[in-house]
Amino acid sequence: MRKLFIAGNWKMNTDAKSASALALGLAKALDASVYKAVDVAVCPPFVYLQDVANALAGSKISLGAQNVYFEDNGAFTGETSCAMLKDLCCEYVILGHSERRHVLGETDALINKKMHKALASGLKPIFAVGELLAQRESNETDKVVKTQIEKGLAGITAEQMKDVTIAYEPVWAIGTGKTATPEQAQEVHAAIRALILKMYNKNIADAVRIQYGGSAKPSNAAELLGKQDVDGLLVGGASLKVEDFAGIIKAGV
Ligand code: PGA
Repeated sequence: MRKLFIAGNWKMNTDAKSASALALGLAKALDASVYKAVDVAVCPPFVYLQDVANALAGSKISLGAQNVYFEDNGAFTGETSCAMLKDLCCEYVILGHSERRHVLGETDALINKKMHKALASGLKPIFAVGELLAQRESNETDKVVKTQIEKGLAGITAEQMKDVTIAYEPVWAIGTGKTATPEQAQEVHAAIRALILKMYNKNIADAVRIQYGGSAKPSNAAELLGKQDVDGLLVGGASLKVEDFAGIIKAGV
Protein backbone atom coordinates (compact mmCIF):
# COMPACT_ATOMS: atom_id res chain seq x y z
CA MET A 1 0.00 0.00 0.00
CA ARG A 2 1.40 3.39 -0.96
CA LYS A 3 1.08 6.14 1.61
CA LEU A 4 -0.33 9.36 0.18
CA PHE A 5 2.08 12.26 -0.25
CA ILE A 6 0.76 15.81 -0.56
CA ALA A 7 3.19 18.66 -1.13
CA GLY A 8 2.65 22.40 -1.40
CA ASN A 9 4.65 24.29 -4.00
CA TRP A 10 4.60 27.93 -2.94
CA LYS A 11 6.43 29.04 -6.09
CA MET A 12 7.58 32.71 -5.99
CA ASN A 13 5.02 33.72 -3.39
CA THR A 14 4.86 34.83 0.27
CA ASP A 15 7.21 37.15 2.20
CA ALA A 16 9.17 36.50 5.39
CA LYS A 17 6.20 37.13 7.65
CA SER A 18 3.54 35.32 5.64
CA ALA A 19 5.80 32.32 4.91
CA SER A 20 6.30 31.69 8.63
CA ALA A 21 2.63 32.34 9.36
CA LEU A 22 1.54 29.91 6.64
CA ALA A 23 3.83 27.17 7.96
CA LEU A 24 2.76 27.71 11.56
CA GLY A 25 -0.89 27.84 10.60
CA LEU A 26 -0.63 24.62 8.66
CA ALA A 27 1.16 22.82 11.49
CA LYS A 28 -1.61 23.89 13.83
CA ALA A 29 -4.38 22.89 11.45
CA LEU A 30 -3.21 19.29 11.09
CA ASP A 31 -3.50 16.83 13.95
CA ALA A 32 -1.60 13.60 14.48
CA SER A 33 -4.19 11.42 12.72
CA VAL A 34 -3.39 13.12 9.40
CA TYR A 35 0.19 11.92 9.33
CA LYS A 36 -0.81 8.28 9.63
CA ALA A 37 -2.46 8.54 6.23
CA VAL A 38 -0.55 11.31 4.49
CA ASP A 39 3.04 12.51 4.23
CA VAL A 40 2.98 16.31 4.03
CA ALA A 41 5.63 18.70 2.73
CA VAL A 42 5.88 22.37 1.86
CA CYS A 43 8.29 23.89 -0.64
CA PRO A 44 8.77 27.61 0.08
CA PRO A 45 11.05 29.98 -1.84
CA PHE A 46 14.76 29.44 -1.05
CA VAL A 47 15.07 32.65 0.94
CA TYR A 48 12.40 31.60 3.43
CA LEU A 49 13.50 27.98 3.89
CA GLN A 50 15.20 28.80 7.20
CA ASP A 51 12.18 30.73 8.52
CA VAL A 52 9.85 27.92 7.51
CA ALA A 53 12.20 25.28 8.97
CA ASN A 54 12.05 27.19 12.27
CA ALA A 55 8.28 27.49 12.09
CA LEU A 56 7.92 23.77 11.40
CA ALA A 57 10.29 22.60 14.16
CA GLY A 58 8.59 19.84 16.12
CA SER A 59 5.92 19.27 13.48
CA LYS A 60 5.70 16.33 11.09
CA ILE A 61 5.58 18.54 8.02
CA SER A 62 8.64 18.06 5.83
CA LEU A 63 10.50 20.78 4.02
CA GLY A 64 11.32 20.83 0.33
CA ALA A 65 13.01 23.22 -2.09
CA GLN A 66 11.72 24.18 -5.52
CA ASN A 67 14.97 23.63 -7.40
CA VAL A 68 18.67 22.86 -6.95
CA TYR A 69 21.88 22.94 -8.98
CA PHE A 70 23.97 19.84 -9.70
CA GLU A 71 27.44 21.16 -8.85
CA ASP A 72 28.90 21.02 -5.32
CA ASN A 73 30.08 24.64 -5.21
CA GLY A 74 31.98 27.20 -7.24
CA ALA A 75 31.32 29.97 -9.72
CA PHE A 76 27.61 29.37 -10.40
CA THR A 77 26.09 32.75 -9.65
CA GLY A 78 22.60 32.56 -8.27
CA GLU A 79 22.53 28.79 -7.87
CA THR A 80 22.01 26.66 -4.76
CA SER A 81 23.69 23.32 -4.02
CA CYS A 82 22.25 20.14 -2.55
CA ALA A 83 24.51 20.50 0.51
CA MET A 84 23.08 23.98 1.11
CA LEU A 85 19.56 22.58 1.03
CA LYS A 86 20.57 19.78 3.39
CA ASP A 87 21.97 22.43 5.75
CA LEU A 88 18.49 23.95 5.85
CA CYS A 89 16.87 20.60 6.72
CA CYS A 90 15.32 20.06 3.29
CA GLU A 91 14.16 16.51 2.65
CA TYR A 92 12.65 17.02 -0.80
CA VAL A 93 13.41 18.99 -3.93
CA ILE A 94 11.07 19.60 -6.87
CA LEU A 95 12.83 18.93 -10.18
CA GLY A 96 11.50 19.19 -13.72
CA HIS A 97 8.61 21.46 -12.84
CA SER A 98 6.90 22.76 -15.97
CA GLU A 99 7.74 26.35 -15.08
CA ARG A 100 11.43 25.42 -14.94
CA ARG A 101 11.10 23.54 -18.23
CA HIS A 102 9.02 26.06 -20.16
CA VAL A 103 9.73 29.45 -18.55
CA LEU A 104 13.37 28.93 -17.54
CA GLY A 105 14.29 26.58 -20.39
CA GLU A 106 15.49 23.54 -18.42
CA THR A 107 16.18 20.52 -20.60
CA ASP A 108 15.69 16.82 -19.84
CA ALA A 109 19.48 16.48 -19.73
CA LEU A 110 19.86 19.21 -17.10
CA ILE A 111 17.01 17.80 -15.04
CA ASN A 112 18.67 14.37 -15.20
CA LYS A 113 21.94 15.81 -13.84
CA LYS A 114 20.02 17.41 -11.00
CA MET A 115 18.22 14.12 -10.27
CA HIS A 116 21.54 12.30 -9.96
CA LYS A 117 23.07 14.93 -7.70
CA ALA A 118 19.99 15.26 -5.49
CA LEU A 119 19.78 11.50 -4.95
CA ALA A 120 23.51 11.15 -4.33
CA SER A 121 23.18 13.92 -1.73
CA GLY A 122 20.30 12.33 0.13
CA LEU A 123 17.57 14.67 -1.14
CA LYS A 124 14.33 13.10 -2.36
CA PRO A 125 13.27 14.47 -5.74
CA ILE A 126 9.68 15.24 -6.63
CA PHE A 127 10.19 14.73 -10.34
CA ALA A 128 7.57 16.56 -12.39
CA VAL A 129 6.45 15.73 -15.91
CA GLY A 130 3.51 16.76 -18.06
CA GLU A 131 2.28 17.71 -21.49
CA LEU A 132 1.30 21.06 -23.01
CA LEU A 133 -2.27 21.63 -24.18
CA ALA A 134 -1.31 21.36 -27.85
CA GLN A 135 0.42 18.04 -27.15
CA ARG A 136 -2.67 16.66 -25.41
CA GLU A 137 -4.87 17.84 -28.26
CA SER A 138 -2.68 16.06 -30.78
CA ASN A 139 -2.71 12.86 -28.68
CA GLU A 140 0.94 13.12 -27.74
CA THR A 141 0.50 12.99 -23.96
CA ASP A 142 1.86 9.47 -23.50
CA LYS A 143 4.79 10.09 -25.82
CA VAL A 144 5.76 13.37 -24.14
CA VAL A 145 5.51 11.99 -20.61
CA LYS A 146 7.40 8.82 -21.61
CA THR A 147 10.27 10.83 -23.07
CA GLN A 148 10.46 13.12 -20.03
CA ILE A 149 10.55 10.12 -17.70
CA GLU A 150 13.05 8.09 -19.70
CA LYS A 151 15.42 11.04 -20.06
CA GLY A 152 14.90 12.43 -16.57
CA LEU A 153 15.47 9.06 -14.91
CA ALA A 154 18.32 7.92 -17.19
CA GLY A 155 20.89 6.11 -15.07
CA ILE A 156 18.84 6.29 -11.87
CA THR A 157 19.04 2.89 -10.16
CA ALA A 158 16.20 0.81 -8.71
CA GLU A 159 17.63 1.46 -5.25
CA GLN A 160 17.55 5.23 -5.86
CA MET A 161 13.97 5.05 -7.16
CA LYS A 162 12.83 4.37 -3.58
CA ASP A 163 13.47 8.07 -2.90
CA VAL A 164 11.78 9.40 -6.04
CA THR A 165 8.24 10.73 -6.25
CA ILE A 166 6.85 11.40 -9.71
CA ALA A 167 4.43 14.29 -10.17
CA TYR A 168 2.18 14.23 -13.23
CA GLU A 169 1.26 17.83 -13.93
CA PRO A 170 -0.49 18.55 -17.22
CA VAL A 171 0.78 22.02 -18.09
CA TRP A 172 -2.67 23.16 -19.25
CA ALA A 173 -4.01 22.49 -15.75
CA ILE A 174 -1.33 24.36 -13.79
CA GLY A 175 -2.57 27.62 -12.34
CA THR A 176 -5.43 27.74 -14.82
CA GLY A 177 -8.28 26.52 -12.64
CA LYS A 178 -8.75 23.71 -15.17
CA THR A 179 -8.19 20.40 -13.42
CA ALA A 180 -7.67 17.14 -15.26
CA THR A 181 -10.62 14.87 -14.59
CA PRO A 182 -9.85 12.04 -12.17
CA GLU A 183 -10.15 9.70 -15.17
CA GLN A 184 -7.67 11.69 -17.24
CA ALA A 185 -5.25 11.71 -14.32
CA GLN A 186 -5.69 7.99 -13.65
CA GLU A 187 -5.08 7.13 -17.30
CA VAL A 188 -1.71 8.91 -17.37
CA HIS A 189 -0.73 7.71 -13.89
CA ALA A 190 -1.39 4.10 -14.92
CA ALA A 191 0.72 4.62 -18.05
CA ILE A 192 3.55 6.07 -15.93
CA ARG A 193 3.41 3.11 -13.55
CA ALA A 194 3.49 0.70 -16.51
CA LEU A 195 6.54 2.53 -17.85
CA ILE A 196 8.30 2.32 -14.46
CA LEU A 197 7.55 -1.43 -14.44
CA LYS A 198 9.23 -1.72 -17.83
CA MET A 199 12.22 0.41 -16.80
CA TYR A 200 12.68 -1.18 -13.35
CA ASN A 201 10.67 -3.97 -11.75
CA LYS A 202 7.33 -4.75 -10.12
CA ASN A 203 8.44 -3.78 -6.62
CA ILE A 204 9.54 -0.35 -7.77
CA ALA A 205 6.45 0.17 -9.93
CA ASP A 206 4.15 -0.84 -7.06
CA ALA A 207 5.95 1.39 -4.58
CA VAL A 208 6.62 4.57 -6.53
CA ARG A 209 4.32 7.41 -5.56
CA ILE A 210 2.77 9.39 -8.39
CA GLN A 211 1.28 12.74 -7.44
CA TYR A 212 -1.17 14.67 -9.58
CA GLY A 213 -0.68 18.42 -9.91
CA GLY A 214 -2.69 21.12 -11.66
CA SER A 215 -5.40 23.21 -9.98
CA ALA A 216 -5.91 20.72 -7.15
CA LYS A 217 -8.28 22.18 -4.56
CA PRO A 218 -10.37 21.07 -1.58
CA SER A 219 -13.38 20.44 -3.82
CA ASN A 220 -11.63 18.02 -6.19
CA ALA A 221 -8.95 16.47 -3.96
CA ALA A 222 -10.95 13.51 -2.66
CA GLU A 223 -12.03 12.44 -6.13
CA LEU A 224 -8.50 12.66 -7.52
CA LEU A 225 -7.02 10.84 -4.52
CA GLY A 226 -9.69 8.17 -4.90
CA LYS A 227 -8.14 6.95 -8.13
CA GLN A 228 -6.04 3.82 -7.89
CA ASP A 229 -2.80 5.25 -9.23
CA VAL A 230 -3.07 8.77 -7.79
CA ASP A 231 -0.88 8.64 -4.69
CA GLY A 232 -0.92 12.28 -3.70
CA LEU A 233 -0.97 15.83 -4.98
CA LEU A 234 1.47 18.60 -5.79
CA VAL A 235 -0.46 21.76 -5.00
CA GLY A 236 0.41 25.28 -6.10
CA GLY A 237 -2.13 28.08 -5.61
CA ALA A 238 -4.26 26.25 -3.06
CA SER A 239 -1.25 25.55 -0.85
CA LEU A 240 -0.95 29.28 -0.08
CA LYS A 241 -4.01 29.31 2.17
CA VAL A 242 -3.96 27.26 5.36
CA GLU A 243 -7.65 26.42 5.10
CA ASP A 244 -7.45 25.24 1.49
CA PHE A 245 -4.26 23.23 1.85
CA ALA A 246 -5.41 21.65 5.12
CA GLY A 247 -8.71 20.82 3.41
CA ILE A 248 -6.88 19.11 0.56
CA ILE A 249 -4.71 17.12 2.97
CA LYS A 250 -7.71 16.06 5.05
CA ALA A 251 -9.38 14.77 1.88
CA GLY A 252 -6.69 12.09 1.93
CA VAL A 253 -7.41 10.89 5.46
P1 PGA B 1 -1.49 24.83 -9.23
O1 PGA B 1 0.06 24.48 -9.42
O2 PGA B 1 -2.01 23.95 -8.12
O3 PGA B 1 -1.51 26.30 -8.87
O4 PGA B 1 -2.16 24.56 -10.53
C1 PGA B 1 0.52 23.17 -9.31
C2 PGA B 1 2.01 23.11 -9.54
O5 PGA B 1 2.52 23.85 -10.40
O6 PGA B 1 2.73 22.34 -8.88
